[in-house]
Amino acid sequence: MADNSAVEFKNVSFTYPDAKKSVLHDVSFRIKKGLWTALIGHNGSGKSTISKLINGLLIPDQNEKSEIKVEGIKLTPQNVWNIREKVGIVFQNPDNQFVGATVGDDVAFGLENRGVPRDQMLDRVQRVLSDVGMLDYINAEPANLSGGQKQRIAIAGILAVEPDVIIFDESTSMLDPNGREQILGIIKKLMLEKKLTIISITHDIEEANLADEVLVLNDGQILAQDIPAEVFSKTEMLREIGLDIPFTEKLISKLDQIGIKIPQNVKTKDELKQYLCQLNLKK
Ligand SMILES: Nc1ncnc2c1ncn2[C@@H]1O[C@H](COP(=O)(O)OP(=O)(O)OP(=O)(O)O)[C@@H](O)[C@H]1O
Ligand SMILES: [Mg+2]
Repeated sequence: MADNSAVEFKNVSFTYPDAKKSVLHDVSFRIKKGLWTALIGHNGSGKSTISKLINGLLIPDQNEKSEIKVEGIKLTPQNVWNIREKVGIVFQNPDNQFVGATVGDDVAFGLENRGVPRDQMLDRVQRVLSDVGMLDYINAEPANLSGGQKQRIAIAGILAVEPDVIIFDESTSMLDPNGREQILGIIKKLMLEKKLTIISITHDIEEANLADEVLVLNDGQILAQDIPAEVFSKTEMLREIGLDIPFTEKLISKLDQIGIKIPQNVKTKDELKQYLCQLNLKK
């Protein structure tokens, strides 16, 4: 049977060493290949822990039913390096991820490790730096960059090695609105061109609303997984677990309060705009 999962968790629990209780409790989910999945949940719900389990930085609690698969391959201590080739993570804090003396060296580092020939390497480094709007900084020292600029370089470093799955762990949190839009555009373009799977961990609900699917985590358990329109229409559930809802959903619920009922099948911003315009014409 063809496996269209990029990542699969079956009955995964995880407890940090010396911690009294587990932070993930019997978690099972599938992330579909070639799609963009947003992982949302309150602070401490276990999102970063999931990303570290995906590339074997952390190992699940021992349980015979427990299994993590990446691109159809079961993650074991023997093939963890193999799996790490397939998964790139841009971590929450960009400060800890620099290895090169200059921005250019840093982005080239992952390529050197993978034996990419030198002429191709320079081309690729320049291309990804230009993609993230940082080509002018190719000779700068990473330590001297601003937080948002560091995030851009960390993103460029991962884009350069073209893994199958890229996890962005709040990687756009320090970017200004233009920068964020630019990076999200690059992510989407790359995803379509290279058939990448994207997992973005985010507190930005509008960003999650752009994804193909949304996975909701609450206290170490999966609460929902669906297309954004479905997940964000569960406003009560999201409020209960302390999450915000996107602007369109807020507008729909406000309109409802003043007696304008929006049909269930109207979900996206464009559908809502269209519906409201024709409503006006009828009157
Ligand atoms: N190294 C660690 N040792 C012990 N406990 C940890 C460690 N890292 C995280 N935790 C705990 O595990 C839980 C989940 O943490 P995790 O970092 O996965 O949350 P998160 O969903 O990424 O949160 P945030 O939105 O704040 O980034 C938290 O309660 C946290 O305190
Ligand atoms: Mg986190």
